[in-house]
Amino acid sequence: MRKASLHGQWSSRFAFVLAATGSAVGLGNIWKFPYIAGENGGGAFVLIYLLCILAIGLPIMVAEIMLGRRGRQSPINTMRDLAAEAGASRFWSWLGWLGVIAGFLILSYYSVIAGWAMAYVVRVASGVFEGATADGVSNIFGQLIADPEKLLAWHSLFMIVTMLVVARGVKGLERTVKFLMPALLVILILLVGFGMEQGAFEQAASFLFKADFSKVSSEGVLTAMGHAFFTLSLGMGAIMVYGSYLPTKVSIGSTAVIIALADTVVALLAGLAIFPIVFANGLEPGSGPGLIFQTLPIAFGHMAYGSVFGTLFFVLLVFAAWSSSISLIEPAVAWLVENKKMSRMRACIWAGLATWILGIGTVLSFNLTADVKLFDKTFFDILDYLTANVMLPLGGLSIAVFAGWVMSKENSASELQLKSPILFNSWLFLVKFVSPVAVAIVFLKAIDVI
Ligand code: PFF
Repeated sequence: MRKASLHGQWSSRFAFVLAATGSAVGLGNIWKFPYIAGENGGGAFVLIYLLCILAIGLPIMVAEIMLGRRGRQSPINTMRDLAAEAGASRFWSWLGWLGVIAGFLILSYYSVIAGWAMAYVVRVASGVFEGATADGVSNIFGQLIADPEKLLAWHSLFMIVTMLVVARGVKGLERTVKFLMPALLVILILLVGFGMEQGAFEQAASFLFKADFSKVSSEGVLTAMGHAFFTLSLGMGAIMVYGSYLPTKVSIGSTAVIIALADTVVALLAGLAIFPIVFANGLEPGSGPGLIFQTLPIAFGHMAYGSVFGTLFFVLLVFAAWSSSISLIEPAVAWLVENKKMSRMRACIWAGLATWILGIGTVLSFNLTADVKLFDKTFFDILDYLTANVMLPLGGLSIAVFAGWVMSKENSASELQLKSPILFNSWLFLVKFVSPVAVAIVFLKAIDVI
C-alpha cells in the first residue's frame, strides 16, 4: 500500500484532530441538532442520538479513518484498491461514488444555511436585535428567508470562500481550523451561562435530558441515527479522505474518541444555550430550521455587550460551517485531481460551480417554491432527508461491512495498532455485527417493514 497521499499530509496528529473535529463540528451541532431534538420531543431523542454516536458512530469512524489511511487516495480510488487487496469486487468503488454525490448534495444546502449565518453577522453587528422581542426577532428571520436574491448572494459568497480554502490544499485547511475550534467553545460556554442566568434553564435541561420514549416515533429514531452520521461527518468519505492524509504512526482509536467527544460536547452545549431561551420566551421547540436564528438573537438583544458577543458567535458559526464544508467537497476534488488530471484549482472551480447551481434549488425552496412539495417535503427537506437519513447511514453501513467482513483481520489490525487485543476485538465485533444490524433495523422500521 502507498506510503503517502499525492495531495500531502497533515503535519501532526494534532492537526488531524483539529481538521476532523473541524469537519465534525459545524451547522449540524449548533443549527440542526437543537431543532431536530425540538421536533422530536427532546430527552428520549437525545438519548438515542447519544447511543448511536457510541455504538454505531465511533466504531464506524475508526473504520473510515483506517480505510482512508490504508488507501491514501480519494474514497473512490481507495475503495477500489482496498477491494482489490482483499480480493473483492471492484464494485466497492461505488461506495466512494455514493460519498462524492452525498457530499455534493449536502454542501449545496449547507452553504445556503451558512449564508443565513453570514447574513446574521451583519444584522447582529448593526444592533438591530437590541431590546428586540421574540416576535421582532422572528420577523427579521422571516424577511431574510423570503428574499431569494439576498439568500443567493450569501450562498454565493460562502461557496467562494469554501472553494478558496479547498484550492489551497491540506495546509490551507489546517491553518483555518487551528484557532477556530477553541474560540467557538468559549462563546458557547458564555451563552450557556446566559441561559442559566436569564433563561428557563431547568426546564431546558429537563426537556433535553428527561427521556419520555412515547414522544419518539420510528421515524424519529431514524433521524437520530442519521444525525449521528451527519454530525460526525461519517458515511460519505469526508473522514476517509482526511484519514488518507494521516501520517502512519498516529493512533486511530484514541484520535476518533477525542473527535466524537468534542463533537458531542458542542452539540449538548448548543442545546443548553438555546432551549433556556426557547422556554423563557414561550417559543415553540419544534419550530424547525429557523430555531437558532429566532432564539439566540433574543439573548444577544438583552445581554450586556450582546451585539459584540452575538457578532462573534455568528462569525464563529460561519467558521465552523466553513471547516465542515471544505471536507464535504474534498472527496470530489481529490478524485478530479487523481482521475481527470486537473489542477486543484480547476477541480475546485468545477466542483464548486456544480454545487452552487444546485444550491439555488434550496434558496428558492424557502420562498418562491416553498409550496412545491413532494411527499409533503420541499426541495431542501428532500435533500436533507435523502442525505442524512438514507445516504449517510447506507454509506456507514457499507463501510462497517467492508471493514468487518471484507478486509482481512491482519490488515485491519496492522493498520489500527490498537493497544490491546480486547480493544481490537471489541471494535471488530461492533463493526461486524452491532453497527450493520442496528442500521438495518432502524431503516426497516422507519419504512414500516418490521
Ligand atoms: N459534520 C458536519 C456538521 O455537523 O455540520 C456536517 C458534515 C460535514 C456532514 C462533512 C458530512 C460530512 F462529510
